[in-house]
Amino acid sequence: MKSPVCIAVVGSGYVGLVAAACFAEIGHKVFCVDNDESKIAMLQAGGVPIHEEYLRELLERHHPTSITFTTDLAGATREAQAIFIAVGTPQSGTGSADLSYVDAVASEIARSIDSYKVIVEKSTVPVYTNEWIRRVVERNGVPRELFDVASNPEFLREGTAVVDFLHTDRIVVGTDAPRAADLLSAIYEPLTGGSYYQWANSVPGHCHVGNLPPIVHVSTKAAELIKHASNSFLAVKISFMNVVANICEAVGADVQQVAYGVGLDARIGPKFLQAGVGYGGSCFPKDVAAFRYVAEQFGISFGLLSEVEKINAEQKQRFFQKVRSALWTFRGKKLGVLGLAFKGGTDDIRDSPAIEIVEKLLQEGCAIDAYDPAAMERTAEILPPSANMHYVGDAYAAAEGKDALLILTDWQEFAELDLERLHQRLRYPIILDGRNLYKPEHMASHGFSYMSVGRQDAQPGREVLVKAGSFVEPKRAI
Ligand code: UDX
Repeated sequence: MKSPVCIAVVGSGYVGLVAAACFAEIGHKVFCVDNDESKIAMLQAGGVPIHEEYLRELLERHHPTSITFTTDLAGATREAQAIFIAVGTPQSGTGSADLSYVDAVASEIARSIDSYKVIVEKSTVPVYTNEWIRRVVERNGVPRELFDVASNPEFLREGTAVVDFLHTDRIVVGTDAPRAADLLSAIYEPLTGGSYYQWANSVPGHCHVGNLPPIVHVSTKAAELIKHASNSFLAVKISFMNVVANICEAVGADVQQVAYGVGLDARIGPKFLQAGVGYGGSCFPKDVAAFRYVAEQFGISFGLLSEVEKINAEQKQRFFQKVRSALWTFRGKKLGVLGLAFKGGTDDIRDSPAIEIVEKLLQEGCAIDAYDPAAMERTAEILPPSANMHYVGDAYAAAEGKDALLILTDWQEFAELDLERLHQRLRYPIILDGRNLYKPEHMASHGFSYMSVGRQDAQPGREVLVKAGSFVEPKRAI
């Protein structure tokens, strides 16, 4: 690797902390800054506030030698050549992104600039945010030659964030300043040039010297739009398949066969076509709303995105109705729930479809025993244990004596349950699978009444209407 760059990353959330750890991993000197003193103290003491594969190892490897945790933004700004802003951009009441944290951080950075800096926006932000950051810094009296702005959106997914960062499909750099573009190219050079992948201890993934991630240099506005358009398009893909799933249920087809056949078209691709209980998380719901709002601001109607939001809300409601029709009445029913996180592999419950469904079931008078491998602690903060809400230690405890078992999150361990054991534990062998983790005929042959999404219900002793034919189900990409 060429010379290390001194980097400040402002914000130690999912994006900030992972970016800081990964910049250190590829050889840079990093200051990770947050104004949350207790979080910084925890990180300084070796704690890791989020559940993310490889993150602990990377922090152990690089802290304190090449990564420093601090609350001192002014000090980090003075040291750093590039300052990445990775603070939250929550959804405001109108659906637009609330940029007040970005604004505050940009002003604070501006007050400490005493030599040339590149200020890089990494949070997901609407088009024109870079322009605003530039104006804020200028308003604070920083001469134009002492800074440039750039947009470098992050495409990492929670649960696989470290691998996504180090083995990315593309690195997008948006800036109108060649000097800033050069510094960002130098920062990512260990990835784009391949030296990182030759290192014996590198985190494994799909990139290697024969398959290097491309760096895409575009304008700041294009970079900002790439991020919003990518997330919105993925949400469109999922919602599209969820509606196709509903058609499959109506006509007696299997949505996984349909998704497989559709996804083989290279122009469409097989990913993000899994029907289920709808998308959630800290990004898709917020970014779809924000992008729709951006379009409206410019007088452009993006009705497609409003429809996607509607489909996603209806998909959760549809699953809830499915539970109702399986149980007939709710009051007093005992249910086991597998999964609380918005998807498998994370402890994040923000906008989790599972939580929304659990809340509705509790309101209807059900008693729930829930299990999630990582998200129970966080869920208990908003749904404290009570007479009707218990958290249990594994899937079998959740099934014990229940009228039905619900699968709401696609954790790998939920796809590998001991079905005999599960059957023995349940009071009634009814499973409602919102993530299509099992084959209906397989579940019926194990004595379950099994209902899933976009596929025919299966009952023991009754043939499933849709036969697999020569279709061999591909391994699920959870
Ligand atoms: C997403 C983007 O993928 C990532 O590029 C961006 O940086 C942040 O937002 P993330 O929110 O971590 O990442 O989760 P993702 O894996 O994309 O899943 C989002 C939601 O869609 C989850 O609720 C997931 O269960 C759901 N989903 C995903 C489906 O319902 N079907 C699919 O086929 C894929």
